[in-house]
Amino acid sequence: MTTPVTEQKVEGDQVVNPWEVSAKDGGKIDYDKLIEKFGCQRIDQTLVDRVERLTSRPAHIFLRRGVFFAHRDFIEIMDLYENGKKFYLYTGRGPSSEALHLGHLVPFMFTKYLQDAFKVPLVIQLTDDEKCMWKNLSVEECKRLARENAKDIIACGFDITRTFIFSDFNFIGGAFYENMVRVSKCVTFNKVVGIFGFTNEDHIGKISFPPVQAVPSFPSSFPHLFSNTKNLRCLIPCAIDQDPYFRMTRDVAPRLGYNKPSLIESSFFPALQGETGKMSASDPNSAIYVTDSSKDIKNKINKYAFSGGQDSIENHRKFGANLEVDIPYKYLSFFLDDDAELEHIKTEYGAGRMLTGEVKKRLIDVLSELVERHRRARAAVTEEMVDAFMAVRPLPNMFS
Ligand code: TRP
Repeated sequence: MTTPVTEQKVEGDQVVNPWEVSAKDGGKIDYDKLIEKFGCQRIDQTLVDRVERLTSRPAHIFLRRGVFFAHRDFIEIMDLYENGKKFYLYTGRGPSSEALHLGHLVPFMFTKYLQDAFKVPLVIQLTDDEKCMWKNLSVEECKRLARENAKDIIACGFDITRTFIFSDFNFIGGAFYENMVRVSKCVTFNKVVGIFGFTNEDHIGKISFPPVQAVPSFPSSFPHLFSNTKNLRCLIPCAIDQDPYFRMTRDVAPRLGYNKPSLIESSFFPALQGETGKMSASDPNSAIYVTDSSKDIKNKINKYAFSGGQDSIENHRKFGANLEVDIPYKYLSFFLDDDAELEHIKTEYGAGRMLTGEVKKRLIDVLSELVERHRRARAAVTEEMVDAFMAVRPLPNMFS
């Protein structure tokens, strides 16, 4: 058994768990430390090259640029894939708000790429129950938000013949619940306290939730999909703050005779104000939302995006921009697909020949186009389509 990693907070220290992401003393998240502490592996160039070879297509921008930077047993999944063995993808979202911001789209954009590149089935869990227990939201409101969020997820372009979206309130029961009970029996109170930092004052809903997020990692939780493929491996694309759930899952899997899920994990999309953690849902000016107009995007970037440029043009020409802290450049590195153009901006802006205003202008164009494309795709998602994605049904051609 692995030693539990205690998430309890040490004053001023870096904290990363599903409910809190904060860097040490207001600095940047130290991802090397995180990898070491959690015990995952870094994704290196060799692995990126291998993914390109196996899929016969260029790696997704998030993989090329190191947004997805860590993994657990992803190499094993690639080994099996190379030998003709497929896997399934599992990801999810806690529906706590109506409007999604760009950071919320990151895992889904990447999952869509994985689905297309590897031609594999995908299950998407909407944890409406989780948000009902953690936020001050009613059961009914969380169920409504789950459906609204499903529309944004569908707008990312998932293939309906290979994708099953489910909400916990609607789907849990049967084989899924049987697995939850199996997992629950393997995890002591002490253990979840160690992994998640629960206290004696936390209600028992929270304490009993982790198995809900764990069991979609096991194919037997979905008899309508995988009754003939019970040993199918699972790959979970997620942000690294979800790692505690899957450390727990991987810990119990062998005791149940199940395969451990593999993971491919991303860093956090930074707030406009700077790279000190995740964006805050409570401050609308800290993020670009998929519902923002081009005008909103322009205003937010011009007004709030933290600049690494110097305080005067004279100094800027002399010293260049500090790209380490510059948000417009950082955002472009997530969303500007053209490697040569990004490299050009890096050199010119870093040397002070390009000004912050020019970089911001490019970012405004890139994001306005992305958000507009999403808006159009979402407007085309009907209630019938949501029902169709969420229907408990077999996916006959999910591997072809
Ligand atoms: N807990 C996640 C959130 O709050 C939602 C989630 C459920 C999830 N299952 C997942 C995220 C699997 C990534 C992978 O957003």
